[in-house]
Amino acid sequence: MSDAPLRKAVLPVAGLGTRFLPATKALPKEMLPVVDKPAIQYVVEEAVAAGLDDLLMITGRAKTALEDHFDRRPYLERTLADKGDDRRVALVRQPTELGRIHYVRQGEALGLGHAVLQASQHVGDEPFAVLLGDDLVDAATPVLPRMIEVQQRYGGSVLLLMEVPPQDISAYGCAAVEPTDEADVVTVTGLIEKPPAEEAPSNYAVIGRYVLDPAVFGVLESTPPGRGGEIQLTDALGTLIDPELPGGGMHAVIFTGRRYDTGDKLGYLKAMIELALARDDLGPDLRAWLESKLG
Ligand code: G1P
Repeated sequence: MSDAPLRKAVLPVAGLGTRFLPATKALPKEMLPVVDKPAIQYVVEEAVAAGLDDLLMITGRAKTALEDHFDRRPYLERTLADKGDDRRVALVRQPTELGRIHYVRQGEALGLGHAVLQASQHVGDEPFAVLLGDDLVDAATPVLPRMIEVQQRYGGSVLLLMEVPPQDISAYGCAAVEPTDEADVVTVTGLIEKPPAEEAPSNYAVIGRYVLDPAVFGVLESTPPGRGGEIQLTDALGTLIDPELPGGGMHAVIFTGRRYDTGDKLGYLKAMIELALARDDLGPDLRAWLESKLG
């Protein structure tokens, strides 16, 4: 439907990180390191690798470490350069060279839908991606390029779905779907935020990657608080399923790659271990140590 490249990505990072207290009392949860990079840097790198070079972070109070991370650090760079440590100078600079990052503050934590609504002025009238910082998609199995392709073919909005065990669905948005001619693409026919297992229409969980039509902003403006008293993105998207609405219609890509929930302690540990095991400098020694520990 459209060939204009998608350029804009919105990264809501204003969450309080309560699942990780006390570590997240003064440190944004997005800054927790996964091996040697903060979790958010993986997400920014994923967006940039998909051609999204205009990034907007929806931030909030006690989140300035995020802006500092993606800013220059001249004194540190000079100190390292004076020692001839060019490798580390490059590591310090790398986050600043990924793309153009903008920031807007949410003010009040009124929910994910409210966070996305703060992006309306920056995004304007073009489709855009949303990447949730808690979801880390392994760079070995990227999915955004496929989602963008599907959005350009069908128009409307595109979600990412992953099958989860039925007892886990209450932690996610859940989609009712119908098949299309393409094995990895479905039409979304219903959406419900965090349903109890017995009310879930499927075991397809919404994962934190979205390619959205800007019509979502108008819908969000009139979306009342939903589950947990928060303005839910899932509820607004539920309205946009209707293909008769301007900007409406929804498809989803079925994800079968590797993804970690770094906002959850066990998910965070799994991400750390898997990504470290895949590294040449750490993998062999870590594997040997794990094997010795596990007998
Ligand atoms: C959010 C969304 C939910 C989605 C999840 C994916 O929930 O509201 O629909 O399934 O992200 O990670 P949260 O985990 O922020 O509570």
